[in-house]
Amino acid sequence: MTHNLTNTMDTAPTANRKVLTWVKQMAELCRPERIHWCDGSDAENQALCDLMVKSGTFIKLNAKKRPGCYLARSHPSDVARVEDRTFICSKTRDEAGPTNNWADPAKMKQKLLSLFKGCMKGRTMYVIPFAMGPFGSPICKIGIEISDSPYVVVSMRIMTRMGQAVLDQLGANGPFIPCLHSVGAPLKPGQADVSWPCEPDPKNKYIVHFPDEPLVWSYGSGYGGNALLGKKCLALRIASTVAKKEGWMAEHMLILCLTSPRSGGSKKHYLAAAFPSACGKTNLVMMQPTLPGWKVTALGDDIAWIRVGKDGRLYAMNPENGFFGVAPGTSMKSNPNAMITAAKNTIFTNVALTPDGDVWWEDMGVPAPVKAIDWEGQAWTPDSGRKAAHPNSRFTSPASQCPVIDPDWQNPEGVPLSAILFGGRRPGTIPLVNESFDWEHGVFMGSACGSETTAAMLGQAGVVRHDPFAMLPFCGYNMGDYFAHWLSFAQRTDRAKLPKIYFVNWFRKNGGGKWLWPGYGENSRVLKWICERAEGTGKAQKTPIGNLPTADALDLSGLNLSADSLKQLLAVDVAAWKKEVEGVAANYATLGSHLPKALNDQLDRLRKRLG
Ligand code: OXD
Ligand code: MN
Repeated sequence: MTHNLTNTMDTAPTANRKVLTWVKQMAELCRPERIHWCDGSDAENQALCDLMVKSGTFIKLNAKKRPGCYLARSHPSDVARVEDRTFICSKTRDEAGPTNNWADPAKMKQKLLSLFKGCMKGRTMYVIPFAMGPFGSPICKIGIEISDSPYVVVSMRIMTRMGQAVLDQLGANGPFIPCLHSVGAPLKPGQADVSWPCEPDPKNKYIVHFPDEPLVWSYGSGYGGNALLGKKCLALRIASTVAKKEGWMAEHMLILCLTSPRSGGSKKHYLAAAFPSACGKTNLVMMQPTLPGWKVTALGDDIAWIRVGKDGRLYAMNPENGFFGVAPGTSMKSNPNAMITAAKNTIFTNVALTPDGDVWWEDMGVPAPVKAIDWEGQAWTPDSGRKAAHPNSRFTSPASQCPVIDPDWQNPEGVPLSAILFGGRRPGTIPLVNESFDWEHGVFMGSACGSETTAAMLGQAGVVRHDPFAMLPFCGYNMGDYFAHWLSFAQRTDRAKLPKIYFVNWFRKNGGGKWLWPGYGENSRVLKWICERAEGTGKAQKTPIGNLPTADALDLSGLNLSADSLKQLLAVDVAAWKKEVEGVAANYATLGSHLPKALNDQLDRLRKRLG
């Protein structure tokens, strides 16, 4: 089917003055060859995929093995989010706080205007209307991304609700969040394009947020959260500032439903969980419980927008429409539901290409192909001494394809939360599961989150970095004020209606460096205890750090776990905790006067309880 990819301002499919004016201004600034208003249709999507196959950006995969799937290889300089090039340009440095790169908004705009000037020469400017959250949700937000990357268009079509319906919803006067994106690679007349245009110099990449407007400007990268501006930029950094003003929360959390087989029928518990990047959120949300009769269904794997519902409970909603999952490590063993989700209509980025037109990555659970083309487009064999897939290679798949997608994942009201979990990769100190005494103590737990770093972040792997609420790279304002916002929910609703808060750690190791807990589907045993606590039946003992399961409280039936391992998993190592407290204190100190007193009090009380 052919599709007209070259409509112009004259054919703009909206009467919204603000949209028309902004698009016109941006076209005058960026000087594209042509403008295309995206309608989100199948025909448009196919035309763009065909176009990218022709230009070399996409390789069409074997239609029998991977129907509707494509492989893209990025430029080697453009493989992950660039946190050191991400800026929050609030009016003052203090509003952005010490955890964000701040720049003066006027100066940053001036700098970026010079970069955006003529940056789309020789390219098409795509106007991408998108919604975060289902229409009808009281907190659904509409954005419009302008981008010169067709890869961004087809990715946004998977990750958000994108197309004409959004402009229709916006109508003549509706508000939207403008998001401007360019790969930063204008073409001179006659200049041949490359398969992954971008600005190769890391110092010239800019991911910039103007929370007071609000507005996002992104320049120089075509990859993931740098370029798909609905995700981290709008749904977390900008949304967190909007949520603070409007009285809700934008969080780096998965949402799942756990159904128990109890009392003849079934009982549902919805849980939201914050884990730093690359801690297995996608694995947990699509988990296959090993406990007989228990079922997990997925509502979202990365972002949760949470608000107080009419009944006073907290309701969580996934603003996204797809999964942007890390490929390496995903297998039929670690996450069969993700493998099935990515079996069709998926964009793979930076994985290896096999001779039969399929994809492969490390720890995919199938033998490595005898030869392949690696993520850099080079011939590869298992003994070539390099990874075939980039450690941060991804699959971009529609959430609707997930075999365990929850029937309520698009419910505009969201789902009522029974519990909120925090976690991280912590080989020591942190027990398997720990329940907070109350909301303030739970907020303290979230503020004390940390994790060992891994490949999805640029930089050194294997060091613990403090990552409060798993929001360190995503909180769009002062982290101390963000803590205060969390605390304020105890006043926004009846305390008894707030979900209980837990800290979990699947990654505890023994002295010999071996994992103590099997993880994956066995995590259902911990989730079961959390549900039992919500129902008032699970047994717990009070310890200095929180309420831990009693030795017999976790359902360990059929699990080969030694008594000694269980003891270590539930141990409170006072000496290690005293060190932990000082780590949190040092982190708190960086927040200065913005740190809420209630959290300092929590720290003092913990110190006292530890003796
Ligand atoms: C992600 C991240 O890609 O958190 O979701 O880095
Ligand atoms: Mn994430």
